[in-house]
Amino acid sequence: VSLKPYNTFGLDVVAQYFAEVTTESELKEALEWARETGVEPYVLGGGSNILLTQDVKTLVIKNALKGVTVLEESDTEVRVQVASGEVWHAFVLHSIAQGWGGIENLSLIPGTVGAAPMQNIGAYGVEIKDVFGSLTALDRAHLETRTFAADECQFGYRESVFKKELKGKYIITSVTLVLSRNAQLNTSYGAINETLTERGIANPTIRDVSDAVIAIRQSKLPDPKVIGNSGSFFKNPVIASAQYEQLKDHYEIPGYPQPDGQVKVPAGWLIEQAGWKGKRIGAIGVHDKQALVLVNHGGGSGQALYDLAMEIQASVQSKFGIEILPEVNVL
Ligand code: EPU
Repeated sequence: VSLKPYNTFGLDVVAQYFAEVTTESELKEALEWARETGVEPYVLGGGSNILLTQDVKTLVIKNALKGVTVLEESDTEVRVQVASGEVWHAFVLHSIAQGWGGIENLSLIPGTVGAAPMQNIGAYGVEIKDVFGSLTALDRAHLETRTFAADECQFGYRESVFKKELKGKYIITSVTLVLSRNAQLNTSYGAINETLTERGIANPTIRDVSDAVIAIRQSKLPDPKVIGNSGSFFKNPVIASAQYEQLKDHYEIPGYPQPDGQVKVPAGWLIEQAGWKGKRIGAIGVHDKQALVLVNHGGGSGQALYDLAMEIQASVQSKFGIEILPEVNVL
């Protein structure tokens, strides 16, 4: 089966086995089949955070678990359980229509609900951990369901326990979020404020914030349906403040101080300064409006994208002495 429709880079990679599952029992069946057959299973959500570099001998399981269930409701809050195969942005729009606030800043992030806590998705000052209640996940080895509370997920910047100690051990089946009926809006991110001001909106609603975020993202980030990409390819590196001060002597380098005293530097800036922004090498390249995004204009290969990423990484290392690491999962 070609995985081209199942990854947002649009890479034409072949999986030897493929199954789409719509219920938990189908998911278990697929995993059992994989175990009996001796084939490695790989669970795919929206395919928006993955770089496929070669054909795979695995069983690719497309997660299509669906359902949104309100568990608890009060005048101020709602606890809502969402199946992991739901499309994240569709759920954001549903929440806004219901008047549930808290994830409006996370509008238009590609991918599924199940992938969201995996890498603690974040944008414009909000991360999923800020509204996270709990999640359920299927233990791959024993096919038993376990609930994870927030602290057990060990959320960090684009990090969770599911990318570290428990990598490959669990399959997230549902996520419970705690959303608010009178949400505290987060418009601290400059571009959101600018967009709202331009639109003459003084007292924004969650929908106004969502609309602003959508406009900002559309102006910088390529639509994967038009140009293959997986959002930010690298994470923003965090460096020692002494190193940051040294660089400041030579460059007008942006930086965001972290609670621990270190400084987060935008990888997009580093990559642009290293001369990569808008570069095109055959079918692949670096997006012209946001250097953090690698793109497949059509017909490119995952290996070529990976090679390009490594070249960018090396050039940022040699120019600035900063290591940038991929945010996407390379398979
Ligand atoms: N910049 C440049 N050149 C570029 C791109 C960025 O100089 O080509 C500089 C600008 O100075 C800008 C700064 O970098 O002020 C920050 O850029 P931007 O606001 O676009 O945010 P980012 O740090 O590049 C992160 C997330 C995005 C998220 C935005 C908004 C990561 C890896 N990326 O990008 O997340 O949407 O902030 O909050 O943390 C994703 O994870 O896929 C993603 C798109």
